[in-house]
Amino acid sequence: MTQADPFQSNPVQPDPALLAAARTAFANAYAPYSHFKVGAALRTPDGQIFAGANVENASYGLGRCAEQSAIQAMNSAGQRTFTDLVVYSDASPPASPCGACRQILFEFAPEARVICVNAAGEVLSYSVAELLPHAFKLEEG
Ligand code: THU
Repeated sequence: MTQADPFQSNPVQPDPALLAAARTAFANAYAPYSHFKVGAALRTPDGQIFAGANVENASYGLGRCAEQSAIQAMNSAGQRTFTDLVVYSDASPPASPCGACRQILFEFAPEARVICVNAAGEVLSYSVAELLPHAFKLEEG
């Protein structure tokens, strides 16, 4: 039996405007320590796009992921949820959000689509809830 090609079984393609914003953020990433650049761009329900890049620091633990930067930009503009997120990297397979970012994405949009892409055009797609099963959430008291 041949193994399923993960890219074939994930045929969702990113929206061109969202992809372009993620690529621009990728180009602007500040990653002099890891040399691993990431760009993220998300779309809010009213159609706005917010992007972010990873921003590292000489004190390594202070680095910020691209997804968190995009979430900060979204909230700073008064938006609280999103429908789609593109994560752009050079990695193969395309980098998917780290564990911490998954929790942060879940806070605002558990049903959102996450599309991970790379320069070679490989695409992987998931929902936030798929990326973080059994997520922690506070029950309203
Ligand atoms: N990074 C992101 O920005 N997003 C991810 O999804 C994975 C990892 C960053 C953090 C760090 O600056 C670099 O990539 C290497 O881990």
